[in-house]
Amino acid sequence: MNPFKSYTLKPGVTMRNRLVMAPMTTYSGNEDYTVSDEELAYYRLRSQTLGMVITAATSINDSAQAFERQISLKSDAFIPRMKELAKTIQSQGALAVVQLHHGGRMNLPSLYDNPNAIVSASAISAPREGLATPRAMTTAEIKSTIEDFAQATRRAIECGFDGVELHGANTYLLQQFFSPHSNRRDDQYGGSVENRMRFIEELIDRVYAEIVSANQPNFILGYRFSPEELETPGITMEDTLKLVDKLKEKPLDYLHISLKHYRQTPMRNEADKTAIIDQIQSRLKHKIPMIGVGGIATKENVLDAFKAGYEMISSGVAILADPAWGTHVEKGTLNTVFDPQTMPEHLYQRLYKNRQYFTQGGYRFKS
Ligand SMILES: Cc1cc2nc3c(=O)[nH]c(=O)nc-3n(C[C@H](O)[C@H](O)[C@H](O)COP(=O)(O)O)c2cc1C
Repeated sequence: MNPFKSYTLKPGVTMRNRLVMAPMTTYSGNEDYTVSDEELAYYRLRSQTLGMVITAATSINDSAQAFERQISLKSDAFIPRMKELAKTIQSQGALAVVQLHHGGRMNLPSLYDNPNAIVSASAISAPREGLATPRAMTTAEIKSTIEDFAQATRRAIECGFDGVELHGANTYLLQQFFSPHSNRRDDQYGGSVENRMRFIEELIDRVYAEIVSANQPNFILGYRFSPEELETPGITMEDTLKLVDKLKEKPLDYLHISLKHYRQTPMRNEADKTAIIDQIQSRLKHKIPMIGVGGIATKENVLDAFKAGYEMISSGVAILADPAWGTHVEKGTLNTVFDPQTMPEHLYQRLYKNRQYFTQGGYRFKS
């Protein structure tokens, strides 16, 4: 298996290589949450050498918006610009997958005039400064949110995207339902791990039904998850392995993990030295392709990540620094300097604000 050669994800869907651009919020849409010209230029540059490009987290309804200038597919009005985005990525030879997102209790309160609009599984705030205490969703709201994901999927199909990724990672709404910290419900969506998975299961089933009813057998359905969280109580590896058992039975085309390092061991239990990917594959047995992520920057990292047991890998920061990462990583001619000419201004400013973190990681800033 050569990661730099083409890969058939499923019948009829072939990627030119197994390298994926990780979803990254750009904070750079237009003020009305439509895709900006700066973003189109940024994605065009980064789609030239990769097999698949996953877009920034894209909101699915009015309560989903988590960040300033976050792009959206919450109504048909967003179709024309999102169509441009799909075309831009595909014109450079990469598959275009849109990441569908609801921020839940992580939404920036300043984006909401009405604090009641910030919702989650339960009225428990995230242990982070500056966030609101959310309102617990009613059963009717759970159903309508699932429907909003399905409608966003319909729009993604209409835009010509190759697929959608459901954002179940990084502490956002889907994870909030799975988490015993944010989910204290006593109905069928809370309590036992089976009940905490129900929202995710119903969501995947409904989105898949939308794809089937649109007669799109080549459309990709991916799911992203974080295997653990720091809160107490919080998602454990044991919970996640049960989730993997469920996801394994779903009509998913890939699973995308979210980790700081692709060979990470569990953070909740330091005595457990078995890599998370090994634990997952002991249950998943490669039944669904996995995308690995986390600090994959060099050719050695890429080759090692495939040895670790993933079918594809995604990279974030390395692709921010090097728009032609897909070919440069193979040749060993990586660029590690962030250049404001190659990315939207607000994204560059964000990176620059956190420059200490990135410079420690070996990256530099042009200005
Ligand atoms: C600027 C930035 C924005 C991000 N936005 C998202 C996002 O919208 N959705 C998501 O699932 N992950 C997001 N992530 C996480 C990345 O997808 C990826 O998992 C993370 O950067 C680790 O990979 P890396 O070490 O290759 O950068 C973001 C990361 C960065 C640096």
